[in-house]
Amino acid sequence: SGATQHRVESVKRHLSRLVAKSLCAVAADLDVEPMIEVSKSGFGDYQCNNAMSLFSRIRESATNFRNPNAVGQAMADNFPPSRIVESISVVGPGYVNIALSSDWIAQRIQDMLIHGIESWAPILPVKRVVLDFSSPNIAKEMHVGHIRSTIIGDTLARIFEFANIEVLRRNHVGDWGTQFGMLIEFLFEKFANGEEAGNQAIENLQGFYRNAKKKFDENPDFKGRAQQAVVRLQRGEDRYLAAWKSICQISRNEFDLVYKRLNVELEEKGESFYNPYIPRVLEELTSKGLITESEGARVIFIEGQKAPLIVVKRDGGFNYASTDLAALWYRLNVEMAEWIIYVTDVGQQQHFHSFFSAARLAGWLPDKKEEKYPKVSHVGFGFVLGAEGSRFRTRSSDGVVRLVDLLDEAKSQSLAQLIKRLTENGQIADWTDEELDKTSEAVGYGAVKYADLKNNRLTNYKFSYEQMLSDKGNTAVYLQYAHARICSIIQKSNKDVKELKLTESITLGHPDERSLGLHLIQFAEVVEQACDDLSPHRLCDYLYTLSERFSQFYTNCQVVGSPEETSRLLLCQASAVVMRQCFHLLV
Ligand code: ARG
Repeated sequence: SGATQHRVESVKRHLSRLVAKSLCAVAADLDVEPMIEVSKSGFGDYQCNNAMSLFSRIRESATNFRNPNAVGQAMADNFPPSRIVESISVVGPGYVNIALSSDWIAQRIQDMLIHGIESWAPILPVKRVVLDFSSPNIAKEMHVGHIRSTIIGDTLARIFEFANIEVLRRNHVGDWGTQFGMLIEFLFEKFANGEEAGNQAIENLQGFYRNAKKKFDENPDFKGRAQQAVVRLQRGEDRYLAAWKSICQISRNEFDLVYKRLNVELEEKGESFYNPYIPRVLEELTSKGLITESEGARVIFIEGQKAPLIVVKRDGGFNYASTDLAALWYRLNVEMAEWIIYVTDVGQQQHFHSFFSAARLAGWLPDKKEEKYPKVSHVGFGFVLGAEGSRFRTRSSDGVVRLVDLLDEAKSQSLAQLIKRLTENGQIADWTDEELDKTSEAVGYGAVKYADLKNNRLTNYKFSYEQMLSDKGNTAVYLQYAHARICSIIQKSNKDVKELKLTESITLGHPDERSLGLHLIQFAEVVEQACDDLSPHRLCDYLYTLSERFSQFYTNCQVVGSPEETSRLLLCQASAVVMRQCFHLLV
């Protein structure tokens, strides 16, 4: 497609290639990985930090280098000629500072305006990714952890999709296991007692679960029947399958309310889906000598770990780990995914570590460092905390606060805020109810998502409507205002930027224009980085800095009515385009 055709390499990658050549000129026989980062010193735009470690490796053999600075100097002297570099300087212990050509930066921005933001999408070496996220459990509470998984997972999916990668969005719901015996048996009892059938009987599924569990624990007779029910369900008896299906459907309807609010699409392939594959997979692992008997269970021992991974329980049943092994087999061999990514809270790190190790032992994944794919990653995240700093609970005194209620609350608070602001501005009359509704929804849900994404995912964060809906600081609300302001500048100029980008060019004369421009072209490498370490917050940091650089530019550089008007309007337009793409990826 046109989008892929015009895709350009990120600045960082481009520079890495140049640095690799200069490294090669200095130490041809060593395989040195270029070390490049955005300059913090203020000398140049990027800096290369290879000289020091390279010096210590070659000081014996290459006596012509007196110190690291001399190595840096040699790298600078051997830097391949390039349009992108304006100047190179070497300071201190051999830091090679690279200043980019302002004309080149300007040209790159202009090209993006012409070819679209897709031309700045990262180029990744994979074609198909399985993203396992959200994944709540049937008949149990869908808790805040699942909402975090949904938000983080959906954002990662969008980022990969932006990079033109096929993403199989998988909802690995917990829809199988011994708890279904007691649920089904409890449901049958209700029928027998003449209570309303179907959805009516289990309207409150979590209450239903609690009551079933209570009976299971207290009544040995019921317990026996529940255990029988599991066997009959697994044998596929019609009545049992039908009951299981209707219980799943009720949960599914509940989950879908959240997905609809968050506008998230994902395909359910629950644990039950992989059940038929488990025996074969365990057979393979047994024939490879990985599975041994331990205390009546069948387990896989993993080096460096005290407890083995249990794959068949003592009662002969399968568990979470056996299902995950079968699912991984399926994803690798049937779905042919090159990268399989799991999004859950950090509490499950141990589980993922163990079963990834088992897969490596089985030879499903490469264990050599150079071979990168197929690859598996666990994307862990921290807890959401309540106002008092303890773990956020979705339970209130009178029962359960559902996640949909939480989202509705964000919307209603954002609506109140919007009405207040519009009333103060005297604009309230210009808004229809529908506009108010749509806007408060977008702002409210966007605020929840952004608040979740902006922190490093591993850290815990406090859930606060007030903070997430604030119009100051790194919040979705503030950033949306910043974007709206840019759009109104463009509008006020009465110029057609779509036309301008083809006829006029960008010049980055003022330092604040240049610093905005430099930040703009770094979009590609930030997305690349977010893909690499699966960290959406990098994009939030980028977006916030973009709004700051824009403010600085707008404060110090007159746009409308200045001699530089057309160039500056194009810069405004590019800022708006990049911001919109960030919004699209994040909220
Ligand atoms: N259902 C699990 C939970 O709620 C999450 C499943 C994650 N995915 C997986 N393949 N294990 O904790």
